[in-house]
Amino acid sequence: MAADALILGIESSCDETAAAVVERGMVVRSSVVASQNEIHTKYGGVVPELASRAHMERMLPVIRRAIDDAGVRLDQIDAIAVGHRPGLIGSLLIGVAAAKALAWSLGKPLVGVDHVQAHLYAGMLAEATDRASNEATQVNSEAAGLFPALGLVVSGGHTSIYLLRSWLELERLGATIDDALGEAYDKVATILGVPFPGGPNLDRLAQSPGANDRIEDLPISRLAPTSLDFSFSGLKTAMLYQVRGVPEHPAHRRADSRYVPPPPLTDERRRDLAATFQRAAVRTVTLKLERTLDQLRQRGVHPKSLLTGGGVTANSRLRSELSVFAQSQRLALALPRMAYCVDNAAMLAGLASHYLNAGRTNDLSLEPVPTTAC
Ligand code: KG4
Ligand code: ZN
Repeated sequence: MAADALILGIESSCDETAAAVVERGMVVRSSVVASQNEIHTKYGGVVPELASRAHMERMLPVIRRAIDDAGVRLDQIDAIAVGHRPGLIGSLLIGVAAAKALAWSLGKPLVGVDHVQAHLYAGMLAEATDRASNEATQVNSEAAGLFPALGLVVSGGHTSIYLLRSWLELERLGATIDDALGEAYDKVATILGVPFPGGPNLDRLAQSPGANDRIEDLPISRLAPTSLDFSFSGLKTAMLYQVRGVPEHPAHRRADSRYVPPPPLTDERRRDLAATFQRAAVRTVTLKLERTLDQLRQRGVHPKSLLTGGGVTANSRLRSELSVFAQSQRLALALPRMAYCVDNAAMLAGLASHYLNAGRTNDLSLEPVPTTAC
C-alpha cells in the first residue's frame, strides 16, 4: 500500500447508510452517515424492507458527499472497502453492489470487511485536523505495541470479547447468550419510559446530579465461574420488576397474599433506577474483562492493549470505568471518538488498509452474509 493510500469505505449493514475516505489506515478525510431513525422509530425497530429501500435512495448521494468532503476524485481512490457481514441481507446487498460496481469500473481492489471486527478498529481513527496530537494516531503508529490485544465490542447487536494477535488474527473468547448490552439499554429505557434514543438518554439520566446508583440490589451476571460469556436478560427482568412490581407466583398464592405494587415511578426514582441499572450493566462488562485477563495471563498470553468499539462505547460510565480498568491493568486503551462509536464507514476503510497490505482482497464474487465471521 502506498504511504498515502486512500480507501473508500461503504457501510449499509443495518439502518445507517455510510461512506468514508480514510488515508493511511487512520486519518479520516471524510465520514458521512445518513441515519434512518425517522423511518423506523414509529415501528419501534428496524423494518428490513424499508431499510433496504432507503439504502438504495441514499447510497450514491452519500458516496458522492464522502468523496467531495475528502477533496479527492474517485480516480484517486486506491481501494474500495465494504462491510459485507453481518447484517440484514437486503441492506448489505445495496452496499456490496455499490462497492463491486465502483471497484470494477475504477479497476481498483475490492476489500470485504466484517462489521464487528471493524468496530474494534474504531479507536485507531483520527481526524484529519488533529493529526499531530491525536492519541489514536500515536497508538496506531505503534501498532507493534498493540498486540496481543484484548478486544471488546458492545453494540446494539453484539457484546463480545476477543483476543487479537494482529488485525488479521482474531479469536472470540466470549459473547452474550441473550441480549446485547445496547439492546438491554434500549429495552430498559422503554421500561423506564425514557424516550428514544433509549441508550444515550438513559446514560444522560443516570449521570444527572444527585443520582443514587445503589437504590436497589440488581443482579450482576457472572454465569459459570470460568465463563467469559455475558447475560443481560436477568438484569432487564429485575428492572421490569422494579417498575411493575414482582408478579405473584401461583405456587405461592395464599388466601391472604396479594400483589404489592412497586413504589411510584417518580422522576427521582426513575433517575436513581437508571443510575443503578447503569452501574450494574457496566460492572458486568468490567467483571468479564478482569476474568478474561486472568485466564489469558494463566495461559501465558499478556495483552498489551484494550481495543474497544460499538455504540455503547459512547456510554459515559463505561468509558470512565474502562479507563480505570486499563490503567490498573497497564493496558493501552483505544476508545473510539464519539463519532466512531456508532456505525460508520471509516472503521471499515481503516481496517481494510491492513487487509490490503496483507493482500487480502476479494473478487467480484464477494457475497453479503447475514452472520459474523467472528
Ligand atoms: O454500534 P451501533 O451503532 O449499532 C450496532 O451495530 O448495533 O450501536 C447502537 C447501540 C444502541 O443500542 C444504542 O442504544 C447504544 O448503542 N448506545 C448507547 C449509548 N449510545 C449508543 N448505550 C448506552 N449509552 C450510550 N451513551
Ligand atoms: Zn455496529
